[in-house]
Amino acid sequence: MAATGSEEQGGRAYYVTTPIYYVNDAPHLGHAYTTVAGDVLTRWHRQRGEKVWYLTGTDEHGQKIMRTAEANGVTPQEWADKLVDEAWRPLWEHLEIKNDDFIRTTEKRHTDRVQEFVQDLFDKDEIYKGGYEGPYCVGCEEYKLPGELLEGEGEFAGLKICAIHKTPVEILKEENYFFKLSEYGPRLLEHYEANPGFIQPESARNEVVNFVRQGLQDLSISRSTFDWGVPVPWDEKHVIYVWIDALLNYATAVGYNENPAKFEETFPADVHLVGKDILRFHAIIWPAMLLAQGLPLPGKIAANGWLMVGGEKMSKSNLTGIKPQDLTSHFGVDAYRWYFLRAIAFGQDGSFSWEDFSARYTSELANDYGNLASRVAAMVGKYYGGTLPETNSGGVAEQAVRDGLIKAVTEADRKIGEELDFQGGILAIFDFVKQVNGYITEQEPWKVAKDTSAEGQAALATILYTASEALRGVAVLLNPVMPDTSQKLWDSLGAEDALGALADQRIQDAATWGQLPAGTTVTKGAVLFPRLEEKPA
Ligand code: MSP
Repeated sequence: MAATGSEEQGGRAYYVTTPIYYVNDAPHLGHAYTTVAGDVLTRWHRQRGEKVWYLTGTDEHGQKIMRTAEANGVTPQEWADKLVDEAWRPLWEHLEIKNDDFIRTTEKRHTDRVQEFVQDLFDKDEIYKGGYEGPYCVGCEEYKLPGELLEGEGEFAGLKICAIHKTPVEILKEENYFFKLSEYGPRLLEHYEANPGFIQPESARNEVVNFVRQGLQDLSISRSTFDWGVPVPWDEKHVIYVWIDALLNYATAVGYNENPAKFEETFPADVHLVGKDILRFHAIIWPAMLLAQGLPLPGKIAANGWLMVGGEKMSKSNLTGIKPQDLTSHFGVDAYRWYFLRAIAFGQDGSFSWEDFSARYTSELANDYGNLASRVAAMVGKYYGGTLPETNSGGVAEQAVRDGLIKAVTEADRKIGEELDFQGGILAIFDFVKQVNGYITEQEPWKVAKDTSAEGQAALATILYTASEALRGVAVLLNPVMPDTSQKLWDSLGAEDALGALADQRIQDAATWGQLPAGTTVTKGAVLFPRLEEKPA
């Protein structure tokens, strides 16, 4: 976790959250997918010079965690502590996730505030006591409607099973406290209508709107059949339903009822990143809870699609053993961060394949991008002893490169920074990389170098300066996606001495031409994307 240095900047923060993940197991590729997307988004906004707050964390209460802990012979708290310390935090560090905070729902700063929030709703008559009986999926931690269930087959023949988890639901009968969710349908629909960007993508929005139009039921917000949760403050035989507890992390982590200044400058989130499996909780229940308290609603709920394996949502049970670390040890962390955002349109489902990753790594990262960087540095070394030459502005070909950089910056900034179209933004940057490769192939600097006339020498300087400046722009644009290799490129261009830290370079200035001064020392640094070893067995 690193400070953003944003404290001094004042004003509202661009606040992005990931789901808080269940600690019943170690993180897998699917969890990392959402968290990396949020990291790229927030790094992008930091690189614009904005104040940013990026939150992730863990969801530690509920039956699912309790049962897993029991099965492992430890207390739920011991289980959660172990998983957080040994699996979750280390993975985020490994993947260079720059979150500003990490909230755990078992922390007192959270549980106290959850009790206050719920007590407040109770005092406002938004919560009442009632009974409920219905099918419950422990995997989802959610009561299901009969229409949402499937008929079991094979070992589950004759049983109703959850459509997501493909395991039998249990019939639960409880006396519970209910939140008057049914009253919020009209106001939610109004909000969706007035804010078309509230739920992204469009398909997800339509699904939620249709669901709400059918009429909402009141929501059971307490459980009394187990005790691993936050006690209901006025009736300690009950614990607060894990989803109410969990959703509130977005408020408790930024000072709800505790630090008004922090809360004011951060809450509500600009973007809640969620997988589409948990969209309804975020797009219906969470805003209704906020409406009930008179709190402002978030800017956007952005649902990512599922990473699929063998046609099914990737989950712990069908992962076929691939961990994020298995991929990073082969492809490197930067390529890992890049690959899933590059290969899958955000919001759509996508399949991972080792072959596809290898092919894209080799053609796009190693050949297109890595080779460009090493060729340019090698030529500045060979022809100018590693000192960036003086140049003039060149002609039509150079103008095309400058225009190409402007286009890449504009498109990537809109797509990544605003639309969360990571794939489109990355492609815009890589189109520019291809353009610069094409420029070098056409200009043939190795031939121009043989022309010893003053004109020939001036042309050579122009080509290599143009290519180096283009790479400077690429390093800035790719920094949020691939921070390590961007830093290597930055160092190789000698840009740190000339222009300062890479993180301080602004996206909006990245296309301003002529930033690298003549005389800068360019060195052939480490290979950005080494050739891949054989695929491990
Ligand atoms: N604890 C709840 C979330 C509470 S948020 C207030 C939960 N946790 S979870 O551990 O099951 O993780 C859910 C999130 O992980 C998904 O919404 C999604 O963002 C991510 N993913 C888990 N599996 C995934 C895929 N196979 N593909 C893409 N994302 C996936 O639900």
